[in-house]
Amino acid sequence: MTTTDTTTTTKTTVLEASGVTMRFGGLTAVKGVDLKVNAGEIVGLIGPNGAGKTTFFNCLTGLYVPTEGTVSYKGTVLPPTPHKVTAAGVARTFQNIRLFHNMTVLENVLVGRHTRTKEGLWSALLRGPGFKKAEAASEARAMELLQFIGLENKAQHLAKNLPYGEQRKLEIARALASDPGLILLDEPTAGMNPQETRAAEELIFAIRDMGIAVLVIEHDMRFIFNLCDRVACLVQGEKLIEGTASEVQGDERVIAAYLGEPFEGDPGAAEAAAVEAAEQNAAEAAEAEPAPAATEAEAAAEAEPETAPAAAEAEPEPATTEADTAEETPATETPAAEATTEPDDTTPGTGTTSTTSTEGEAK
Ligand SMILES: Nc1ncnc2c1ncn2[C@@H]1O[C@H](COP(=O)(O)OP(=O)(O)O)[C@@H](O)[C@H]1O
Ligand SMILES: [Mg+2]
Repeated sequence: MTTTDTTTTTKTTVLEASGVTMRFGGLTAVKGVDLKVNAGEIVGLIGPNGAGKTTFFNCLTGLYVPTEGTVSYKGTVLPPTPHKVTAAGVARTFQNIRLFHNMTVLENVLVGRHTRTKEGLWSALLRGPGFKKAEAASEARAMELLQFIGLENKAQHLAKNLPYGEQRKLEIARALASDPGLILLDEPTAGMNPQETRAAEELIFAIRDMGIAVLVIEHDMRFIFNLCDRVACLVQGEKLIEGTASEVQGDERVIAAYLGEPFEGDPGAAEAAAVEAAEQNAAEAAEAEPAPAATEAEAAAEAEPETAPAAAEAEPEPATTEADTAEETPATETPAAEATTEPDDTTPGTGTTSTTSTEGEAK
């Protein structure tokens, strides 16, 4: 919480989560997690399904109020309200895409912009007569962002008509529209094909180069280890390990966590079964050979890079949906937030209206 960084390191801490715990009744989804993200960094958060990654993100962004612990952004404790967190400089995307489906691509980005404009969301959308100038500036910025993600030619398309991968990119543009200092991406490549995934990687590097720190959840290990300066692995709500990509990649516990017992109702259970079968085969094959010692580890090491990315790539389109609905439906526990940037098929009515002041900007 002290902003006085020792000047020997030029690294400024952008995000600092200390002892973040989130309980839902008897279930502790996140247990005492500490995590820092420094300026200029891309940090990865990995872990099996149900490990608590999304819950942790929700705690960081004010969607959930952590049972214990604090979250600070640039030395100041964040207010536990999504809108205020965004205003403070932390933007995010969602595992299950949240766009205003019946609004245009451009309008979706403008919605993301409203925390940074005086006129607020409604005037941005309703185009009140007094706000033309501010609106033009917002629109110019929104178009810049669309150009950045490569969707400028689809500015007037309805969001719902975009292919899945482009919807994910649009969500990133909307998040960027709030001029964040930190962006949190929850499975940004879920449902993308390999080319799109590669493009997303480039996009995230470019975001980092714009001076925005990145914290990213992903299942695609190749993607994560290629992209991230540091990676933390969450297992059953606890941080198992944190280190450089190569440290985490080689850690037996991480491999075990991914290949270990599947969680109950885990959507990854099928994958896990396939891995198990592969291990079994490898073990049997190895039995026939002289050195049986390292079989398990070897089988695991071999099975892992094959199965994980393959599974991620194989999902064609909204394949994430089961996981997503599971993730977001129990929201009853969290009255705090859902209202804030909760796009639905409907117009963006509820809750999002910020202080729609009528102070004339442009005349
Ligand atoms: N609002 C909620 N109410 C009750 N349980 C929840 C809620 N949100 C998440 N959980 C539970 O917390 C655990 C972690 O889920 P989640 O954070 O979505 O995992 P991950 O993103 O790592 O796959 C799961 O067991 C999930 O069912
Ligand atoms: Mg999740």
